[in-house]
Amino acid sequence: SKPVRVGICGLGTVGSGTFNVLTRNAESIAARAQGAVEISMVGARRDNPDCELGSTRLSRDIFDVVRDPEVDIVVELIGGTTVAKDLMTEALQNGKHVVTANKALIAEFGNELFALAEQNNVVIRYEAAVAGGIPIIKALREGLAGNRIEWLAGIINGTGNFILSEMREKGRDFADVLAEAQALGYAEADPTFDVEGIDAAHKLVILASLAFGMPLQFSSVFAEGITKLTPQDVEYAEELGYRIKHLGVAKQNGEGVELRVHPTLIPEARLLANVNGVKNAVLVEGDAVGPTLYYGAGAGAEPTASAVVADIVDLARELSAGQQCRVPALGYVTSELKDLPI
Ligand code: HSE
Repeated sequence: SKPVRVGICGLGTVGSGTFNVLTRNAESIAARAQGAVEISMVGARRDNPDCELGSTRLSRDIFDVVRDPEVDIVVELIGGTTVAKDLMTEALQNGKHVVTANKALIAEFGNELFALAEQNNVVIRYEAAVAGGIPIIKALREGLAGNRIEWLAGIINGTGNFILSEMREKGRDFADVLAEAQALGYAEADPTFDVEGIDAAHKLVILASLAFGMPLQFSSVFAEGITKLTPQDVEYAEELGYRIKHLGVAKQNGEGVELRVHPTLIPEARLLANVNGVKNAVLVEGDAVGPTLYYGAGAGAEPTASAVVADIVDLARELSAGQQCRVPALGYVTSELKDLPI
């Protein structure tokens, strides 16, 4: 079969990681996708020293990628909700499948973008949008598909968890650790999103839509960040046998689904209390399986690229086999209210 051709938009942290993973692992990726996956073109305003493009076609206008008739899959890695929304809209209208890591765009505009994808017989995949390299979207959509989900709770912002961990372990200053997280490529372009709970709220809404089969409802999330926490709070929590963790929680209550992100005191012996640094972890309780835990790198170039490439491989496998790509839907209602054992 002819190769599946990928166009990458954006060559920042995740874009360069994606280029490098696709190139380095081309052979095993082709085996898993049952056909070659080629990077047909990259659209980026600037070069990235972490990425050697070689003979790959490059355009300074990212819209060239979505207009190129050769491109089968558009990989949107520019971030934000303005240009990225126009770019994705045009890609879908041009009949391209889209893979994205953009949690803000999915959380805020996913309902309309998914509808547009359906109208154009293409799909949007977004494994990398939540919890970096942890395959939590696939876990909810596929691995747990037989369950009624009772609740989920997780550490879903790597930058925030890195800050809290460094404050506790090394007594470091908040601003100093945040600057390091930015230098390492963990933080959002606007790091307010990380420390004010907005990024976690974006991710929580996406998880809840899959877990509970509901539309994306970003405006319904209660969001509090970590900026009000002091070194004393972190220290006192430790003296009392707790760790402060910033959690996103989604659970059924009598009225509907409760969605909240805020700092939480977790007893130090619990697994979630021991998730440190840029790691994320998500606990999901299903009625059949019981509690399950997913752990791994929540941000960074190659961990996030791992999830982007997984989506590309999935799509490429379906395209190579001449199948119609589609995203299985989950939709059901849970009712029982339980305390969270975390
Ligand atoms: N800024 C995000 C974080 C990147 O720190 O978790 C991964 O979504």
